[in-house]
Amino acid sequence: MADKRARKKAEELRSHRWYGVKDMRSFGHRSRTKQMGFTAEDYGGKPVIAIINTWSDMNTCHTHFRQRAEEVKRGVWQAGGFPVELPAVSLGEPIMKPTTMMYRNLLAMECEELLRANPIDGAVLMGGCDKTTPALLMGAISMNLPAIFMPAGPMLRGSWRGQTLGSGTDTWKYWAELKAGNIDEKAWMEIEDGIARSPGTCMTMGTAATMMSLAETLGMTLPGASSIPAPDSRHAHMASATGRRIVEMVWEDLKPSDILTAKSFDNAIVTTMALGGSTNSIIHLVALAGRAGVKLDLDRFDKLSRTTPLIADIRPSGRFLMEDFFYAGGLRATLARLGDRIDGSALTVNGQKLGENYAGAQTYNDDVIRPLNNPLNAEGGLAVLRGNLAPDGCVIKHSAAEPRLLRHSGPALVFSDYNEMAAKVDRDDLEVTPDHVLVLQSAGPLGGPGMPEWGQLPIPKKLLKQGVRDMVRVSDARMSGTSYGACVLHVAPESHVGGPLAFVRTGDTIQLDVPNRKIELKVDEAELNRRKQAWKQKPAIYPRGYGQMFARHVTQANHGCDFDFLHGGSSVPGLAIPDPEIH
Ligand code: FES
Repeated sequence: MADKRARKKAEELRSHRWYGVKDMRSFGHRSRTKQMGFTAEDYGGKPVIAIINTWSDMNTCHTHFRQRAEEVKRGVWQAGGFPVELPAVSLGEPIMKPTTMMYRNLLAMECEELLRANPIDGAVLMGGCDKTTPALLMGAISMNLPAIFMPAGPMLRGSWRGQTLGSGTDTWKYWAELKAGNIDEKAWMEIEDGIARSPGTCMTMGTAATMMSLAETLGMTLPGASSIPAPDSRHAHMASATGRRIVEMVWEDLKPSDILTAKSFDNAIVTTMALGGSTNSIIHLVALAGRAGVKLDLDRFDKLSRTTPLIADIRPSGRFLMEDFFYAGGLRATLARLGDRIDGSALTVNGQKLGENYAGAQTYNDDVIRPLNNPLNAEGGLAVLRGNLAPDGCVIKHSAAEPRLLRHSGPALVFSDYNEMAAKVDRDDLEVTPDHVLVLQSAGPLGGPGMPEWGQLPIPKKLLKQGVRDMVRVSDARMSGTSYGACVLHVAPESHVGGPLAFVRTGDTIQLDVPNRKIELKVDEAELNRRKQAWKQKPAIYPRGYGQMFARHVTQANHGCDFDFLHGGSSVPGLAIPDPEIH
């Protein structure tokens, strides 16, 4: 049954206190809105809808957002709202350094404060490129005004010499082939020209596609929105429909706190596993749950992973790309196929239950979205490991690793930071065998800083030439959702704060046992204690301004890397501010 809610009156709109009252301040608000060419017919008594737009010339995935913002506005006007576009920091994944993860919480704060400080009744959140999705949702959850997410959508398939190319995944693949001497510079340049051929996000099941899918599963997008390729005309239709729907959500007072519950987060975790989603989604879901006041720990991910088959055959775990996924039926078909593993009673932004939104959804290609009795993997794609090397947990995307490495014991080869790794990994005299476990330290939330996507450590060149394409790698870094390999990530606590990873030395034995969810450093307790006594913390890399705030307040990976002062339940700030405070 659709959610039936009492409708608000115009005088109950939050914006009414800026535009609707008779005082000197509201005179200023009205006259200055008229300065922009609008009249009372445009804004009077109407929901004011913020369109938070993460477009910029430095976000290559959001190049269509200027146009999409116009289409969202069209929908808002059609439904009787007043649209206002608010630009926000765009977090272009390939461009920002050291990593967009450093700035996810900044965008979350910006989103929350834009909504708080302005006469906003409801918000359309325009994001998609990796961290923009969790950031906008985190801010909107904390502000808890009616909000709907408009996903950027994936780009079209890449193409090279008759083969399809997937973002990230095929970059790593062909970079290794270039280093091994199997392709030449000309081929590499052709791949550069053909791998990103349209607006939209990475079109593998990377972090962007995963998080957009999870935004939909959480109930925060219109049904089917997350799978539509960015250049498809149906994407523009979806943008206008999103604009129309947010106006109704304001009248219905349908807020994130009405939608997000423990069952919606379980649905999101099950979906991650069925899709072979990005390891980054674990960090983001924990952070989102923290904002929504839902308790979520790493063990929940592992529990649901063990009972959820991986059915989406999409790179990097599988063969296909997001465009194929859309044509095969997309997320709605996937949710329908998951049956009672998904709790269809969860409410969504269109006022319908999640189950109503995907009821009757068909799968049109069983190779792309596989039947439950023929999955890509009997279990979900991600596993949470623990042991003396990671007392607070770490993760591996085992669906995208060579199976022979999932039970492995080998000597560590330790790089104390990224620069040391970059300087040494391709040297011909590097003492390394395929059995070594490559270890990277100083790459966590504080050590990176920002926990960069360095966790897919490069295979040493001398081994690439021998045909080696996967090795066990361990770090406190993240890795791109488009990456693959036996990479143990998010080791917590991180090495920078004195987690056990800081005490690993070259030659120590590391034992990985994914089926039993274990990772152990085979060094006795007394020796580890000696190393701990001799250890000194490295100074912070970016000790001023935002970097200083980040270093003081970011939490470890198992807590979602949110700032400690942003945890907690939702509130309805703004409504409690007395009129004289509105300037
Ligand atoms: Fe934007 Fe991958 S670079 S989604």
